[in-house]
Amino acid sequence: MPNSGQIALYDPTKTFDDNFDHGPFPADGSAAPYQNDDEPSWTFLGEKVYAPFGIPAGPLPTSKHTNYAFARGFDVVTYKTQRSVPFPCNDFPNVVYLDVDGDLTLEKAAQPQVGRTTTTVSADKLTITNSFGNPSRGPQFWVDDLKQAVAGRGKGQMLIASVVGTIKEGFSPDDYYNDFAEAAELAASSGVDAVEVNLSCPNVASEGVICYTHDAVVEICKKAKQKIGSLPLIAKVGYYSPEQQTLLEEIIKDAAPYLDAICAINTISAPVVDEAGDQLLPGEGRLKSGCCGAGIKWAGLDMVKRLDTLRKKNGYSYEIIGVGGVMTPADYQEYIAAGANAVQSATGAMWNPELAAEIKASL
Ligand SMILES: Cc1cc2nc3c(=O)[nH]c(=O)nc-3n(C[C@H](O)[C@H](O)[C@H](O)COP(=O)(O)O)c2cc1C
Repeated sequence: MPNSGQIALYDPTKTFDDNFDHGPFPADGSAAPYQNDDEPSWTFLGEKVYAPFGIPAGPLPTSKHTNYAFARGFDVVTYKTQRSVPFPCNDFPNVVYLDVDGDLTLEKAAQPQVGRTTTTVSADKLTITNSFGNPSRGPQFWVDDLKQAVAGRGKGQMLIASVVGTIKEGFSPDDYYNDFAEAAELAASSGVDAVEVNLSCPNVASEGVICYTHDAVVEICKKAKQKIGSLPLIAKVGYYSPEQQTLLEEIIKDAAPYLDAICAINTISAPVVDEAGDQLLPGEGRLKSGCCGAGIKWAGLDMVKRLDTLRKKNGYSYEIIGVGGVMTPADYQEYIAAGANAVQSATGAMWNPELAAEIKASL
């Protein structure tokens, strides 16, 4: 995978375990930490931040990674999604480049997309797929490591924990929702600034994307909020098509009382194949995986606008984290103009660890 940018936070040419145990891998590890001038003046979820910009759940699997992101000036940082039990990672590779020309529309995503381990596309135009399956070393590791991540925040910075439920043998739906809440409670115990429930992972064949199931979303949000009390709760959702607008409205109406913020979007799911048309990522249930980067900006922006319209119309108080295809300072501005209270970038930040500095310079 040649470097079309400076891959530093998470290196897709290395296994998940290698990134976890030995990353991050900055080309210039001695780069001076980003220096903010003045005082933090933006407010997000009641906290003062220098800029409401950071990295969503994904590229930062340990406190070493979140510390590196904080040092590069990312202020709203989410630790990779964790579970209440240890869970394996999908087989390598977990990230490949996609041959997507322009927007990855829903029509395009219904068709196989060709993935590659090399690209000539410039860093700010990359569309990729990622497929990890929410691996976790279990709370024995991550609760203490989250405490380290919390300790690594500087002034004007915040750390969010992301959690997901795990279906265990003999579980009822209610047991599954309780498992989300238990993981949320564990995360809250480590002193994070907010907890996010990941309702939108497309990469675990047995679990499915639950943000489109009304009762699951409402129950998970309610149970998680009961466990974490006054700590802010965020729901991470996927893209709802225009045909799913009524479903979106019903879900938001019933989940909004428990939510302090909604993070949108996760990824757009598509079949990913090699040039011969065969499944590219190895393993059962991995034909389809979540696509992200430049090609999904249209979808993230559309969701932010619709969530903003809904909160204005109905008087909801949730804040909105806009995610999807933020590769440049102009993309960040588009999200803020669309109604986002904070913005995060995964793909853009992975190939450009100076993205936060560039955005701050543009403000
Ligand atoms: C390497 C990688 C790992 C990811 N892992 C997670 C995860 O653990 N939990 C989650 O909610 N989203 C995960 N995502 C999705 C991102 O948080 C984000 O929603 C998505 O990539 C869209 O943003 P982007 O276009 O800036 O990449 C991951 C994305 C990438 C690129």
